[in-house]
Order: sequence, then C-alpha cells, then structure tokens
Amino acid sequence: PKKIIIDTDPGIDDAMAIFLALQSPELEVLGLTTIFGNVYTTLSTKNALHLLEIAGRTDIPVAEGSHVTITNGTKLRVADFVHGNDGLGNQNFPPPNGKPIDQAAAVFLVEQANLYPGEVTLVALGPLTNIALLDSGFAKKIGKIIILGGAFFVNGNVNPAAEANIFGDPEAADMVFISGADVIVVGLNVTHQVVLTEADRDKLARSGGKFAKYLCQIMDIYFSYHKDSYEIKGVYLHDPATLIAAVDPSLFTYTEGVVRVQTTGISRGLTILYNKQKRFGEVSEWCDKPTVKVAITVDAPAVVKLVMDR
Ligand code: BDR
Ligand code: CA
Repeated sequence: PKKIIIDTDPGIDDAMAIFLALQSPELEVLGLTTIFGNVYTTLSTKNALHLLEIAGRTDIPVAEGSHVTITNGTKLRVADFVHGNDGLGNQNFPPPNGKPIDQAAAVFLVEQANLYPGEVTLVALGPLTNIALLDSGFAKKIGKIIILGGAFFVNGNVNPAAEANIFGDPEAADMVFISGADVIVVGLNVTHQVVLTEADRDKLARSGGKFAKYLCQIMDIYFSYHKDSYEIKGVYLHDPATLIAAVDPSLFTYTEGVVRVQTTGISRGLTILYNKQKRFGEVSEWCDKPTVKVAITVDAPAVVKLVMDR
C-alpha cells in the first residue's frame, strides 16, 4: 500500500477523511500531524487522538503541529460555527487517553520522508504551516503532497476571495505551492461538486457500520451550516474527496500551472493559477516558479460511492 501522512485540523470532514484512509486497503497511514484551522492546534491534536481511539488504531502516532502561522502575524480564525466548539459536532466526547509523540509535526514529517525517500504521500487537510516550515530538501524527499485548498475560478468560502485552509495561513500556502514538491491541489471548484446528501446520510445511519454511526452522530451541525450558507440539503466532502485523490487519482482530471497566493488586501488568501496559455515575458514571480497539478474535474458519483462504501 501507499504510505501516507495526514496533516489535519479535525473537523467533521477531516474525521471522514481519516476514517476513509483507515478503511482503504490501498493506503498505509504512517501518522497524523495536526494544525490549527477548524479548531486551535491543541484541540486538533486531542481530536486526532480521539478519532484514532474510536477507530481502534492507537498504534498510529500523532505529532502536534504549529500553534501559530508561519509569520506568527495572523490572528487565527477557527470555524466553530461549521464544526462545533469541539470541532466534532458538540458531542462532549471524553478526552482521549493517548498523547501525541514527543516530536513536533515538522520533525516527524522530515523523519518519515528520510526513512522512505520518494515514497510518502502527504495529504494536507488544513492550513499549510507545518509544511511551509520545511526546506527544499523535504520538497525533494516527499513523494507527493495532496492539498485541500483554494478556489480556482470560483468564490472562496471564508469570503468571495479565499478558501478556509489557504486563508488560515496564506504566506505558508504560497511557499508550499512554489516549493518544487510534486503537488496536487484540490480546491472548492472541485469539492463543491462532491455532495453527501441527506438521503446518503440516512442510508449511512441505517448501515450499522461503526464509522457511519459515529459520523452520523457528529454531522448535524455540518448539515445545518450548509443549509444556512448554501441552501443545500447536503454537505460538501472537501477533505474525504481530497483523500480519494490519494486512493485513486484517476477520478480527477488536472491542469498544470503555477499557483500563487495573494497575501495582502481584501483578496488575502486568493489562489491564482497561471497555466502559461499566455506568455508574460519578464514576470519571473509567475514564469520561473515550479508548477503544480490543479484538479479541474471530478467523477463525483464515484467519489461519493467510495466514501459511503468505506
Ligand atoms: C476546508 O476547511 C475546513 O473547514 C474543512 O475541514 C476543509 O479542510 C474547507 O474549506
Ligand atoms: Ca480540514
């Protein structure tokens, strides 16, 4: 199986993605690293440990990530109105028994990339701070980085410009996109096509599966948020869809180009894709940078089916 590490801010859709990974025979989860985003980092770590305990997979290490943005200059924005104060649907779960390992997330990531050079896929489901802390050696040693982030040619979800994970640390995101690593980016233009409907949720609730039951318990607030904000009777599967790009990349099509992130002004966090269809001569901030693959289309029914099945 493919070795993966999930960098995460759990988060209801993060929980779905983590369970999906654990249920996928194509993948071997080497560890979880945590980051602020939906909740602050300390709570992300607790939630990651809790989810592994629910899954009976306490053999998987959790390494705690950064508590502040890469410049330490951005006030953190948490999404309690989307995921609950606890990040997991306000269910008052007891605290986890386990503890994170003694290594910081960035140290764990480097260690694993050195242990298995070119073989590890890092799936990043929160702001990109932990990854931006690493140097160009890491970009060469990591096999692939698959990122849930950005909104290409569509509005964001924090404001018309920015998607939440990129908005969480725009400077970090810009660094990762031009790091030279083999990067795949899955943005809202794709994940807004991947919807778990109320009917799907009812089917899950009836299925009797352990993971389905747990997810149905925490998902109510996520459904209400989508109803209020988007007027849809369903939820977007951002993080699980991105995880599926690791399981079966052929369910997406991609375009290749340079992605940069706006770091100032009202469009702070905006992701801009330049796929060189027009040449801009001397503009090296765009032309000389490494390219990434950006997901453009998705086989949404196939992705939803995989999520449901697993
Ligand atoms: C992303 O932000 C978080 O709320 C979700 O977990 C997902 O990673 C969607 O913009
Ligand atoms: Ca997330």
